[in-house]
Order: sequence, then C-alpha cells, then structure tokens
Amino acid sequence: MQLETVDHLLTTTRSVKRRLDLQRPVEREVIEKCLEIATQAPVGGYIPKYHFVVVTDADKKKRIGDLYRKVYYEIYLPHRKTIELSFPERESRFLDVTNHLVEHFHEVPVHIIPCIEGRVDEPSTFKQASVYGQILPAAWSLMLALRARGVGSCWTTLHLMHEGEVAELLEIPDNITQTALLPVAYFTGSDFKPARRIPARERTHWDMWGSR
Ligand SMILES: Cc1cc2nc3c(=O)[nH]c(=O)nc-3n(C[C@H](O)[C@H](O)[C@H](O)COP(=O)(O)O)c2cc1C
Repeated sequence: MQLETVDHLLTTTRSVKRRLDLQRPVEREVIEKCLEIATQAPVGGYIPKYHFVVVTDADKKKRIGDLYRKVYYEIYLPHRKTIELSFPERESRFLDVTNHLVEHFHEVPVHIIPCIEGRVDEPSTFKQASVYGQILPAAWSLMLALRARGVGSCWTTLHLMHEGEVAELLEIPDNITQTALLPVAYFTGSDFKPARRIPARERTHWDMWGSR
C-alpha cells in the first residue's frame, strides 16, 4: 500500500463547495463504482440496511435546492451568528464558499442522499449510534472514493430540516432515515491541502479524561 498516497487522500479530502464544475456531468459508472467501494465500509448486521438515493433530475434538484436555501438563510445563518467559532478569522472565507454552494446547489450535477433503514426516534445513545454507525462510515468512504477520481463532494445536512418533503419528492418510504446530502461534481484544480484543525493530541485522552 502506498502510505503517502493514502495519507494524502485522507488529509486532503475537503468539503468542496466552490470548486465544483457545474457544467461537467458525473458519469453514472463513476457513481456506481464509488458506491460499490463505499459499501465495503463497516455496516453492521448480516443484512446491510444502507440505501443511496442518487438524484440527477433537474426539477428534483431544484426543489431540494429551494428547501436547502430556505433553511440556510432563515435558520442556519442567524444561528451561526450566535455560536462560538474555533477559528473566527476564517469566518468570512467560510461564508463565502458556503454562500456559493447554497446559490448553486441545484446546479450541482448529482445529489447523493445516504439513507438507512429505520428511524431513530428513541433518545438512547446506543440506538442512535447503532443506526447512524451503519451508514456514516460508508458515506465518508464514498466521498474518499469520489475524491480519488477527481470528483468533489461536501457533507451537508441542512435539507434534513425538510426531510419529510424530500422523502415525498423522492418517494422515500417512511421507515427510511436520510442522513446527509452530498452534492457531487468534478472539482476544478486539485491542490487541496490539509485543513487547520484543533490538534488531535489536544483532544486525545489516555486512560482517563484529561490525561495527555
Ligand atoms: C455533520 C456535518 C454537517 C454539515 N452540514 C453542512 C451543510 O448543511 N452545508 C454546508 O455547506 N456544509 C456542511 N458541512 C460542512 C462543513 O461546513 C465543513 O466541514 C466545513 O466547510 C469545513 O470543511 P473542511 O472539512 O474541508 O475543512 C457539514 C459538516 C458536517 C460534519
């Protein structure tokens, strides 16, 4: 295994919001191949419960984009102004790219919604972790597999505030939980860099909480 290549992929798979090529279609075969790879992630249980709803229909993406935009401007942006930020000096760039995505959401060639069978209506940590843990590793593998092929994506969740409307639009059954929405497009330029993060060692606890 080429460790350098693997580490590069893992450290530079960014949330691509601005550098999405909105004109270039993403081939169905590429999506299918990446989904096959993604389903190799840990899924739990003997019969996997994952589903991926792939949306390419322009009218459906437009409707999803409208719902996403509504949540973004009416709920997310006002809320963001009230929270403490890890890197406040980066806020204007963050908003710049995030605003760009929201305005072009419907133009992104493919929307992929990773879904899981079942609902998490119980607050138990065990139940929640068991349901989401069966789909989120696969969704991240999907993003890595896409990125390795020059295709960008971004983890988004805002549409979930209108999960029911999107379920109706896409005829997703009631017992299915939508977990995210990945806008997917070839990216332009490839000089992605590791992100600035709070160092892992500051958030790592050896043998007991707070012990470095
Ligand atoms: C749980 C979760 C939900 C997110 N939801 C959204 C979203 O709805 N819209 C969006 O633009 N970005 C969303 N993001 C992406 C973050 O804004 C993103 O991580 C941030 O831009 C940092 O990018 P980076 O990972 O490339 O450093 C989400 C990320 C996570 C982990």
